[in-house]
Amino acid sequence: MEPPPMATKTVALLVVVVIVVVSEAPGQGKALSIGVNYGTLGDNLPPPAQVAAFLRDRTIIDRVKLFDSNPDLVRAFALTGISVTVTVPNGLIPSLADRRGGAAAAWVAANVAPFYPATNITLVSVGNEILATGDRALVAGLVPAMRRLSAALSAAGLRRVRVSTPHYLGILAVSWPPSAARFRGGYERRVFAPMLQLLRETRSPFVVNPYPYFGYNPETLNYALFRPNPGMRDPFTGITYTNMFDAQLDAVYSAMNRLGYGDVAIAVGETGWPTAAEPGQIGVSAAEAASYNRNLIRKVNSATGTPLMPNRTFEAYLFALFNENLKPGPIAERNFGLFRPDFTPVYDIGILKNNPSGRRPRRGRRKWCVAKEGASEAALQANINYACSNGLVDCRPIQEGGACFLPNTLQAHASYAMNAFFRASGHRRFHCDFAGTGLITAANPSYGNCQFR
Ligand SMILES: *[C@@H]1O[C@H](CO)[C@@H](O)[C@H](O)[C@H]1NC(C)=O
Ligand SMILES: *[C@@H]1O[C@H](CO)[C@@H](O)[C@H](O)[C@H]1NC(C)=O
Repeated sequence: MEPPPMATKTVALLVVVVIVVVSEAPGQGKALSIGVNYGTLGDNLPPPAQVAAFLRDRTIIDRVKLFDSNPDLVRAFALTGISVTVTVPNGLIPSLADRRGGAAAAWVAANVAPFYPATNITLVSVGNEILATGDRALVAGLVPAMRRLSAALSAAGLRRVRVSTPHYLGILAVSWPPSAARFRGGYERRVFAPMLQLLRETRSPFVVNPYPYFGYNPETLNYALFRPNPGMRDPFTGITYTNMFDAQLDAVYSAMNRLGYGDVAIAVGETGWPTAAEPGQIGVSAAEAASYNRNLIRKVNSATGTPLMPNRTFEAYLFALFNENLKPGPIAERNFGLFRPDFTPVYDIGILKNNPSGRRPRRGRRKWCVAKEGASEAALQANINYACSNGLVDCRPIQEGGACFLPNTLQAHASYAMNAFFRASGHRRFHCDFAGTGLITAANPSYGNCQFR
């Protein structure tokens, strides 16, 4: 008889439900996603159509960045929903910068218009790390080329396709402490101010390639890998940075902010960690690469931002999709890949879809994951560090006083941590791989009060 109060309550309840859903952190509520750089400097890489189908069907990767605009690659991503960044070759920049704009219109007509919207091209990258080349003609032409391409895209009705250019962090004259960072003097007003003005006008991101891999030493390895560490304090702000990635992004932000462009979005064009390097280099193996990339994915999906950019999200592209055996340079350059050419993961960071074809894992006898007999102490320790550092696993039982502390051996502690990780991450076979040092067993390893779940 008195429906209004009831109705009001229902509405209030609905509002509460909606708020809860919206405010849930994307890292927990929504599926994770990440971008990847798809480089092709290998003679053993699979055909682009297979790559596109693999990414669409088997992984959480929802955007790719290409280092050119090879039509075979661009076409392969048609109708996949995967967003694609195409790159203008460095050498074309001077002609694209031409005042009449004809070259830019021709480039768009040949490299974007024929493929869009079937291929979801969302960004045109104008060259790659141009300021690192030190080439005066390229540097001078960069912003004008970006402006002409942006105008050409608009004129062709392709307003949704943004234009930017990725930078190495050598663009900063000072990068520590982050709050004092600034761009290199010669470029600050001449290149970065007009570039940021264009990016603001076109709602496009400032793209940087932060690589803690190129900035760590043995003392700062854990800081570079997002692992527990004492942190680094910025004396001017009093902020203690717990990872190098945050510090690098905040340095970029401070440099932009000095010029009045702190509002422009930042995207991460490349970042990653190799699985092999020159002999003797510490901190390079599948365990470290997995640690860095897994934490990076969580970071960019968490929407927590950085100390100077709270709650910001960053469109990010891991480097790289495949190990590229023809890349020149140090060994690491050929070993940044997430996948081998046969699509097997080089290490597990949770980017495979849990349920490839919608099938549920078969229910069978319970399985546990333990450390193989004979695994090296270094490998066991690395497994413990890895399993206990990603936030999925409670490792207190193997700490002093915990139910699984005794026997106090690396073998026993590693088995506990590896099994807990195996359970927490979905207990699929590859979650117990640990670079070949894990073993799946049907024998329950629990003892006394120490329960392997
Ligand atoms: C294209 O990619 C963007 C960015 O990932 C996404 O928001 C959009 O829905 C995609 N469009 C299509 C048609 O898949
Ligand atoms: C960031 O998000 C949190 C949680 O939603 C909120 O309390 C805080 O005010 C936000 N901070 C900024 C600077 O927007």
